[in-house]
Amino acid sequence: MKCVRVTGHGGRERLEIEEREKPEPGQGELRIEVRAAGINFADIMQRRGDYHGGPTPPYTPGMEVAGVVDAVGEGVGREPGEEVVAMVDGGGYAEYALADATGVFDVPEGFSFEEAAGFPVQFLTAHNCLHGWGRLEEAEAVLIHAAAGGVGTAAVQLAREAGAEIFGTASTAEKLSKAESLGCDHPINYVEEDFVEVVDRETDHGVDLVLDSVGGETTSRSLEALRHFGRMVVFGAASGEPGRLRTDNVLFANQEILGYHLGHALRLQPMRVMEAVPDLVQHLETGTLEVQLDRTFTLDAVRDAHAYIENRESMGKVVLRPTDAHL
Ligand SMILES: NC(=O)c1ccc[n+]([C@@H]2O[C@H](COP(=O)([O-])OP(=O)(O)OC[C@H]3O[C@@H](n4cnc5c(N)ncnc54)[C@H](OP(=O)(O)O)[C@@H]3O)[C@@H](O)[C@H]2O)c1
Repeated sequence: MKCVRVTGHGGRERLEIEEREKPEPGQGELRIEVRAAGINFADIMQRRGDYHGGPTPPYTPGMEVAGVVDAVGEGVGREPGEEVVAMVDGGGYAEYALADATGVFDVPEGFSFEEAAGFPVQFLTAHNCLHGWGRLEEAEAVLIHAAAGGVGTAAVQLAREAGAEIFGTASTAEKLSKAESLGCDHPINYVEEDFVEVVDRETDHGVDLVLDSVGGETTSRSLEALRHFGRMVVFGAASGEPGRLRTDNVLFANQEILGYHLGHALRLQPMRVMEAVPDLVQHLETGTLEVQLDRTFTLDAVRDAHAYIENRESMGKVVLRPTDAHL
């Protein structure tokens, strides 16, 4: 099978196409013929070697796929031919990938494989950060950073469905109009405006919840925008710098800082992560939530796909297509 290999930590030249044997499913696993694989920002951080506990090269990247079950291991209640979506522990950028059956679900009705591959990591993260971890309530104010990104566009839609007042940051007017079109009430171009000042101006007391995927100074400044008894969920460091917090601010304001990591939560508390799936699938099937598909690249163009995201051109989801044979 054809697959992408990261041959060493570093730039995009470290992404290479190789021919390898198809992986064989063990107990509780199934093999999927991949029709589409989602790309996530973490894939880029892992390739660069900037990801805490990330894989050691050589490896095949990719955390989520959609496709057709091709072979099943012992104890798996699925049949070859079924169309599925799966979260995978690496190996998604390939013509075939192995998945543990606990992270596999049906393709939502009416979904293309690209839309299906574009939903698990980013929508589950957005749902869990807002609801499972962040406990968002109706009419609360939430600040979502990188609001036009993959997780961001999912979070804006979910917060809109929850009846929240949404502050969203992004770096360009085009990105902000995307976020606004999805329900962001206060789009903030953080290059031109201080997001803390905007929150101060528009609220009496700050926001109730912050979703921080950027890290660095954005994390510490976000605390200034958070009200007393507010919650902040930290789940990424797209800036390349982890956030640094002064705990005196946190304790005087009775604030909560929560960490979220999908992979570790899925391994240690799978039910807590996966309980969001039925709600998400129902909203995606009825169209109240939509995967914001941006661009699809072929497997051979994987370097261009990473460049598109690294250069901050992407809005919503970017997907890889291993083969044209089934389109
Ligand atoms: N903890 C978890 O389980 C989990 C799961 C999924 C995602 N994440 C994290 O959530 C974040 C979003 O992931 P995603 O896949 O949806 O990516 P994304 O939001 O589509 O892309 C990242 C965005 O971050 C913003 N950004 C800010 N500083 C940046 C910098 N120095 N370099 C590049 N981008 C920068 C950019 O938006 P602007 O141009 O608008 O600033 C960029 O478009 C990432 O940090 C990712 O690691 C965490």
